[in-house]
Amino acid sequence: MTIDELETPAVLVDLDVMERNLARLASYTRKHSLTLRPHTKTHKIPELARRQIESGAKGITVAKPGEARVMAEGGLRDIMIAYPLVTEAKARVAAELARDSAICVSMDSVEALDVLSQAGLAAGRRIGALVEIDVGFHRCGVDSPEQALSLARHAAGLSGLEFRGLMFYPGQLGKLPDEQTAGIADVNRCLTAHYEAFQNAGVEIPVVSGGSTATAYRSHEFAGVNEIRPGMYIFNDRNLVSLGACSLEDCALHVMVTVVSTAVPGRTIVDGGSKTFSSDRSKGEKVTYGLIREDSQTDFIALSEEHGHLDTTHSDRSFQIGERLHILPNHVCVTVNMHDQIYGVRGNTVEKVWQVKARGKVQ
Ligand SMILES: Cc1ncc(COP(=O)(O)O)c(C=O)c1O
Repeated sequence: MTIDELETPAVLVDLDVMERNLARLASYTRKHSLTLRPHTKTHKIPELARRQIESGAKGITVAKPGEARVMAEGGLRDIMIAYPLVTEAKARVAAELARDSAICVSMDSVEALDVLSQAGLAAGRRIGALVEIDVGFHRCGVDSPEQALSLARHAAGLSGLEFRGLMFYPGQLGKLPDEQTAGIADVNRCLTAHYEAFQNAGVEIPVVSGGSTATAYRSHEFAGVNEIRPGMYIFNDRNLVSLGACSLEDCALHVMVTVVSTAVPGRTIVDGGSKTFSSDRSKGEKVTYGLIREDSQTDFIALSEEHGHLDTTHSDRSFQIGERLHILPNHVCVTVNMHDQIYGVRGNTVEKVWQVKARGKVQ
C-alpha cells in the first residue's frame, strides 16, 4: 500500500527516523552504562515496545495498570508502573500481572505501599516498590530524604513488597539546554542528600530511576542515576524542537491531513482539529497547533473539533481542495492517543499498520 491510498487524517511514522532515534539513545545509554526503560505512553503499541527492547532497553514504563495489562499481553515482561496506585482494584491488576512479569510501581505514600503489599500478598507475589522523590517538578514525590527513608523502611517491612530504589521525574527541566544546567545542579544536590541519608541509615538503593526526553542526552550528568525513562524520544515533536532537544529531522511522526475548504479568504481548512491533534499549544510567543511541513509561513492558528484552521495571510502559498499536507504535532503523546491506528512508512510505502492498543487505557 502507498501513502496516497490512506484516508486522512492519518498518523504517519517515518520508520527510518524512528529507527535512528531508537538506535541513538540505546547507544548513548550503553556508553554511559545506564538502564533504558522507555515510557511507552508515547506510542501505546506493544510492537513498538518490543522494538525498544530489541534495540537495547531492559524494560518499559507505563503510567496506568490498564496500559501495563496491554503491554503484558503483548509479551512485555519487565514493566514499571510509574504512577501511584492507591485503590485495591488497581493494585490487584499490578499483582495479577506480577505472576508472569516483573512489575514494579513507584509511590510516595504509606497508603499506596500498604494497598500494593496487600495485593501482592493475596497474589503470592512480591512487587517491586520505588519511592518517588520530588526533585523540583512539584507533582508527586516526597520532599525530604527523611520521608523517603521512612517510606523505604516501611516498604522493606511489608511482606508483599520489595524495596527497589528511588524514582523521580525532572519535568521542570523541559527548558533550553543552557537553562537546564543550573536545574541539573539543583537536582543533584537533592539526590546527593538522599544518598547520604540512606547511606547513614545503612539502606541500599539498588535503582535510581530518572530521565525525560528533554534531558535524555544529559542523563549521565545526574548524580547516581542508573536508569532512565524517556518516552517521546522515539518520535519527538514540535515542542521538543522548540526546546532544542532535537531537530526537525529527528521528528518521525506527522499527521497527514487533507484540505477540505478554502472558501474563506485567508483561511485554509484541513480535516483534523482538536480530535486529531489535541489542544496542546506550542511553546513560545506565537500560539499555534502544529508545524506545516509544506509551508512554514502558513500558521495553524485554531482548532475546531474536526477542522484545523490555517492562516495563509502571511504566505505566498495557496492550497487546493483535496491537497494533502503533513503537520508536525506540538505534543506527540496525546496525538497518538487519539488514533485507533498509526502507519509506519518508508518513502511512499506503508510498511506497518499498528493498532494503538493501549490508547484510552487511563485506568
Ligand atoms: C513519570 C514519568 N516518567 C517518564 C516520562 C517520560 O518523559 P518524556 O515525556 O520527557 O519523554 C514521563 C512523562 O510525562 C513521566 O511522567
